[in-house]
Amino acid sequence: MNFQNTIDFARQSDVNDKLKSFRSKFHIPQHNGKDTVYFTGNSLGLQPKTTKSFIEQELNDWAKYGVEGHFMAKNPWLPYHEFLTDNMAKLVGALPEETVMMNQLTVNLHLLMVSFYRPTKQRYKIICEAKAFPSDQYALQSQVKFHGFKIEDALIEIEPREGEFSIRHEDIYEAIEKNKDSLALIMIGGVNYFTGQVFDMKTITEAGHKVGAIVGFDLAHAAGNLKLHLHDWNVDFACWCSYKYLNSGPGSVAGAFVHQKHLKNIELPMFTGWWGHDKKTRFLMDKTFIPMQTAERWQMSNAPVFAMAACRASLEIFVEAGMDALTEKSKMLTAYLEFIIEEINKQKNNCLQIITPKENRGCQISIVANGYGKDLYNKLMENGVIPDWREPNVIRCAPVPLYNSYEDVFRFGEILKSLL
Ligand SMILES: Cc1ncc(COP(=O)(O)O)c(C=O)c1O
Repeated sequence: MNFQNTIDFARQSDVNDKLKSFRSKFHIPQHNGKDTVYFTGNSLGLQPKTTKSFIEQELNDWAKYGVEGHFMAKNPWLPYHEFLTDNMAKLVGALPEETVMMNQLTVNLHLLMVSFYRPTKQRYKIICEAKAFPSDQYALQSQVKFHGFKIEDALIEIEPREGEFSIRHEDIYEAIEKNKDSLALIMIGGVNYFTGQVFDMKTITEAGHKVGAIVGFDLAHAAGNLKLHLHDWNVDFACWCSYKYLNSGPGSVAGAFVHQKHLKNIELPMFTGWWGHDKKTRFLMDKTFIPMQTAERWQMSNAPVFAMAACRASLEIFVEAGMDALTEKSKMLTAYLEFIIEEINKQKNNCLQIITPKENRGCQISIVANGYGKDLYNKLMENGVIPDWREPNVIRCAPVPLYNSYEDVFRFGEILKSLL
């Protein structure tokens, strides 16, 4: 594609965009009466205009029916999570029986590790990425300690090589091979939150299984961003949140995936609650737990309906747009952002360094502005651009295909250039 750094080019690209109508389905935050350049959909996605009516429906039914809403509501609350399952499963390349929306991301990670991190004296190590999101690090460390192992011994963090930002896949494979007799689990983010690097989940899963390890992914930055094939890749388990690319609102309900091959194994150790009990007999209130043979078994509690209503509204939009069209636009929009940054670099002494690998990325580009600190980010904010800042020196920008435009990218470039 021959990109041009002009407003006419950006506007024409928006006219040609097959997904252009989707922007109007979202509330775009305003700055001085104009749309902001919102590049933080990788942190908190924007609110679909339909979200309010989805939540209002449940508020109205609560007012109308009280507890009877569990059965009488237009969308009965008792099975409410089921309304999300098919669309969510489609988005992550899973079977419906492998998918459940529940809890929050870190909670799900812990619950899945209860089942899938079963260390023995011989096999107890975990491979993870260095500089994983802190909550993942805390979760992994606490699981290791909980099982009586030492963090320094059990956690193998794969780091980028000296002077590099991305982790080389060959270094992951080498670590797997080197620890093949003691490796219990590989748990990596599908996309690193800091650099935006996308990992080859299929090959990592194969490599882990080859040495007898379990493989799980945190898909916080991958769900709704990349095309995923969790079932076909044979991933053992995965979890993700729904408030980033999935636009379900702050702290909304998270997702969990357990591969079909594990679902019949009712001996899997796990922490249980009544919502994981066989649906047909749950309300007999018997003390014996009868496990469901779907990912719903990992549910403990009844569904947070308001959060799920927001998630439903968002998933409908995703399914309408389709991940094929979204990833196609995402590649173009991100490439345009990269082009604009390179154009600025030509005029500004190459001061912008992109640390996201070109060949392994979704719609996030992480930039180090050499010679500039957080002040640059603050000035972007003052000028109506909302990217996000990660200590010590990274500005993350995510042009999201559902609601960002080529004009957003062009405007970002003009504002950034004026501040350098
Ligand atoms: C990669 C990753 N893991 C874990 C979390 C924590 O999520 P939660 O607060 O929903 O548990 C986040 C939040 O941004 C994240 O990006």
